[in-house]
Amino acid sequence: MKTQCLCANITYSTLRGRPILVRRLKLSNFRNYAGLDLCLGRGVTVVDGRNGQGKTNLLEAIYLMAIGRSSRGAADRQMVRYGAFEDFLAHAQVVGEAVTSSGSLSLQVDLSAGERSPGVSGEARPQAQRVQKTFRVNGVPKRSSDFVGLLKAVMFAAEDVDLLSGPPTLRRRYLDILTSQITPGFAREAQDYQRVLTQRNHLLKSIRERAAKESELEFWDVQLSIHAARIIDARLRVMNALDENMDPIHRELSGLNQTLSLKYSPSFETGHYEDVRDLSKIMLDEFREIRRREIGAGFCLIGPHRDDFSAKLDGMDVGSFASRGQARTAILAMKLGEAQLIEERVGDKPVALLDDVMSELDEDRRRHVFDRVRDYEQVIITTAETDLSDVMGDLPIRRISIDAGRVVASG
Ligand SMILES: Nc1ncnc2c1ncn2[C@@H]1O[C@H](COP(=O)(O)OP(=O)(O)OP(=O)(O)O)[C@@H](O)[C@H]1O
Ligand SMILES: [Mg+2]
Repeated sequence: MKTQCLCANITYSTLRGRPILVRRLKLSNFRNYAGLDLCLGRGVTVVDGRNGQGKTNLLEAIYLMAIGRSSRGAADRQMVRYGAFEDFLAHAQVVGEAVTSSGSLSLQVDLSAGERSPGVSGEARPQAQRVQKTFRVNGVPKRSSDFVGLLKAVMFAAEDVDLLSGPPTLRRRYLDILTSQITPGFAREAQDYQRVLTQRNHLLKSIRERAAKESELEFWDVQLSIHAARIIDARLRVMNALDENMDPIHRELSGLNQTLSLKYSPSFETGHYEDVRDLSKIMLDEFREIRRREIGAGFCLIGPHRDDFSAKLDGMDVGSFASRGQARTAILAMKLGEAQLIEERVGDKPVALLDDVMSELDEDRRRHVFDRVRDYEQVIITTAETDLSDVMGDLPIRRISIDAGRVVASG
């Protein structure tokens, strides 16, 4: 059953400035949503429902339009509704009518099952089926790098608490998502880097197996160091700006006079570098230095794909030493700093998506967080049970209730 959408009756021409919001969301075969057509207004929307009904899935769909991939780091295939694979042409679609800094846009992501892997049948079939992801803006096909970042959004999730203590891949992913939202060309650069890295890894392996000559490396060393330097430099700029924003927010949230700072740890000694060319030269020298080790390993040992960052609270590593509560406050400060950074760079506040985070916080922190996001053009908060009236007071909010992938009440 589809929910009737009244979006057409809502006009946005009278809004101040340039609002950023998603005003209509259409899903088909996305996660546990067979079909959904939902109007989303400005201001605060609270999405409630019992556990496992599709609240996070809804936010994941909205964030997919901003970052082009799953907010949970899930494979594309996992976002296609189970059972849809029984159809010959399994196909999930997310379409959002969004108001962005570039005007009103229809943002569309399609996840379509490609060819089945030969010889696979029965229960193993859904896992083996490849999913192709395509992007469209106003109906026109786009590369993912031209799609990512058109809609600006920030996601706050309960799992964020693992960001600083979990594996480095989580942090690289976080930093790259943020950097691609505010640095034009970064998403493309990251794709180019990945492509060259794969080629160079392949060559290193071939040299190890004596199937290629060592002299062939020179070309790929140069190519990789150029892309790597641009990525590291862009990440560092974003991280420095984030670092500046989050410390005062953290003091306000914690009520303590402690310094919260971020530190980028490159996988090779960059020292002080003048510009991106200089950095790429430093990396190139390092490649020559470690050539024997890289050939022995058969893959690339340095570069942004092996870098990391950490957060320090008065010099103490948050990931290793902070209590769960301290880590949660540090991460909240980081996320709020991220939202502020997007606003500083873009000139508009991003869509704020808060997935079940309120229930994790004490009343004081809940109020702080809510006070910071309440004047965003669009705030969507999911909750399973928490009564949020303590922080929201008499602020007009819209409520949407979800049950088994359907909107059962809205008002
Ligand atoms: N690809 C998929 N196809 C169909 N259903 C899926 C798919 N992926 C996840 N689900 C289902 O979606 C539901 C989880 O949805 P979601 O994570 O949005 O729940 P939630 O409402 O946020 O719950 P909680 O309050 O526990 O966080 C589960 O029942 C899960 O089985
Ligand atoms: Mg959830």
